[in-house]
Amino acid sequence: SIQRTFVMIKPDGVRRNLIGEIISRFEKRGLKIIGLKMVKIDRPTAERLYEEHKGKSFFEELISYITSGPVVCMVIEGDEAVSVVRKMIGNTDPKEAPPGTIRGDYALSKAENVIHASDSEEKAKREMSIFFKEEELVTPLAQV
Ligand code: CMP
Repeated sequence: SIQRTFVMIKPDGVRRNLIGEIISRFEKRGLKIIGLKMVKIDRPTAERLYEEHKGKSFFEELISYITSGPVVCMVIEGDEAVSVVRKMIGNTDPKEAPPGTIRGDYALSKAENVIHASDSEEKAKREMSIFFKEEELVTPLAQV
């Protein structure tokens, strides 16, 4: 069924000029970008986004990394988009991500792993609502 998922190119991905390359992969796969914006995340927003990691050893490192430079936020729509996008991205630890995945092709560090994508539809709704208002999303029909 048709799903929406939230994707974010992280500061290292932006710094390494991978925005076009990454967006291109989703477009070529047949997924639709229905929301897109570049933002510099402030600390309160970072803490909200990564609420579930509060208290973990890497939390401070994660917050300072994700606020270190601009990120590119997207809402992507398509058939089974949540799991399809997760597969295209590859494992959180890029050393485990197969070649051909985004992390498998562009990252080696578990901390700086280029990109984020929601791991469930519930998380997708929560994460996209942090960055997008409903009226900022376009339907695929509006793109024709
Ligand atoms: P992501 O799965 O998108 O969201 C949580 C992030 O925490 C993860 O990507 C990594 O960027 C980061 N992360 C996870 N595990 C570690 C770790 N052991 N050390 C540092 N950062 C981590």
